[in-house]
Amino acid sequence: MSSLRSLRPLISCRRFSQPLIKRLALPNLSEARTTSSWMTRWNSTVTQDPMTGELTSLPDIEVSRLEITETNSPKQPPASSSLVFGHTFTDHMLAIPWSAVSGWGAPKIRPYAPLALAPSATVFHYAQALFEGLKAYRDSTGRITLFRPDMNMKRMNTSAARVALPTFNGDAVIELVKRLIRLDKHWIPDLPGYSLYIRPTLIGTQAALGIAPPSEALLFVICSPVGPYYPQGFKPVALYATTEYTRAAPGGIGAYKLAANYAPGVVAQKEAAKKGYVQNLWLHGPEHYITEVGTMNAFLALKHPDGVTELVCPPLDGLILPGVTRDSVLNLARDHASGKTLLEGLPESGKFVVNERPVTMGEVKQAAEDGRLVEFFGTGTAAVISPVNRIGYLGEDIQIPTGPDGMGPVSRPIWKQLVGIQVGSIPSPWSVVV
Ligand SMILES: Cc1ncc(COP(=O)(O)O)c(C=O)c1O
Repeated sequence: MSSLRSLRPLISCRRFSQPLIKRLALPNLSEARTTSSWMTRWNSTVTQDPMTGELTSLPDIEVSRLEITETNSPKQPPASSSLVFGHTFTDHMLAIPWSAVSGWGAPKIRPYAPLALAPSATVFHYAQALFEGLKAYRDSTGRITLFRPDMNMKRMNTSAARVALPTFNGDAVIELVKRLIRLDKHWIPDLPGYSLYIRPTLIGTQAALGIAPPSEALLFVICSPVGPYYPQGFKPVALYATTEYTRAAPGGIGAYKLAANYAPGVVAQKEAAKKGYVQNLWLHGPEHYITEVGTMNAFLALKHPDGVTELVCPPLDGLILPGVTRDSVLNLARDHASGKTLLEGLPESGKFVVNERPVTMGEVKQAAEDGRLVEFFGTGTAAVISPVNRIGYLGEDIQIPTGPDGMGPVSRPIWKQLVGIQVGSIPSPWSVVV
């Protein structure tokens, strides 16, 4: 499976014949078996059909081929208090070129600088672009960790496959990102709530018009020091449940972190802001199923007449991005419900259930009217958990309870546990040491 990853985006899934091996200036693999230096360089990511001797895949990303060029004009990281999300970048970036002819090239860590791309590059015309977002945290002992980076790499590969961009070995990219962070670690502010936001990106760079899988691509990673999303404590947001715009449609791209998903949301967000709301609540279909909150996954908690509290999250039905925070919240909540790891403050096991199920605006409105809507919140890497206090829907406002600190009784204990894991105060296999 992994050996075929780099082939998927090719226009035809052709196999690579001996003449092509020569054109690629790659050694014949039967010779390579006895040539250890060659194998060390290209290692197992180049494979050969045992029957025909044909080359069946191109080189994947190899950490051993990393070349590092350090900047000779390092910048002074700005005062942490002056940071604006996504406006400041560290001294270095990671770049890995790909071509349909020679596969993934040597990864390079080099000074952060503009890219040189042809105006005809496919990324500019056909939105052949996708990205990820994850954070590196510094704990109280100075140790730096990433939070579940394997989930981001998995999602990045899923996004790449959806738009015929090349897929890659995610473990290799995690290792390369670690090397980049180690070089720029002094950019991670040493203050609680601060972190380094990491933005892996993959774009089609073929300099030719025409809609097809690009023959050239570039994976790059940039890093930005960021402050806490809520520096002055949680601030619940008001949402506009839009019936004018949709974010995703069945068979579309809502479940992928493609750049094309984001530009159309800007106008919708500005219109929501004009009406007095912070973000849109994205709905689907005539039933007005809840899908996502702005660029976050949606959760709500309901109190049922039998005294059970239900945490509800819309299911991953192809319209919804599989958020890393969403998955983490569901896991922590389920571990509590099953009695595996209890979270102080949540209703006791037996009185708390977790369901991934469709939920409509009608159900939310009714629950609010009946006094059974406990809370509503969004989840995402940037804010972790974002409480909601009001939803504008069909000309009315649905009021949503929030706790004294802005958070509700279900999200608060989950947030505490999740942030504890992220910042390293609660040990967890989800924390990956850099
Ligand atoms: C549309 C959308 N939904 C949900 C999320 C939350 O995902 P995650 O928790 O992985 O940050 C994001 C942010 O990445 C997003 O862009």
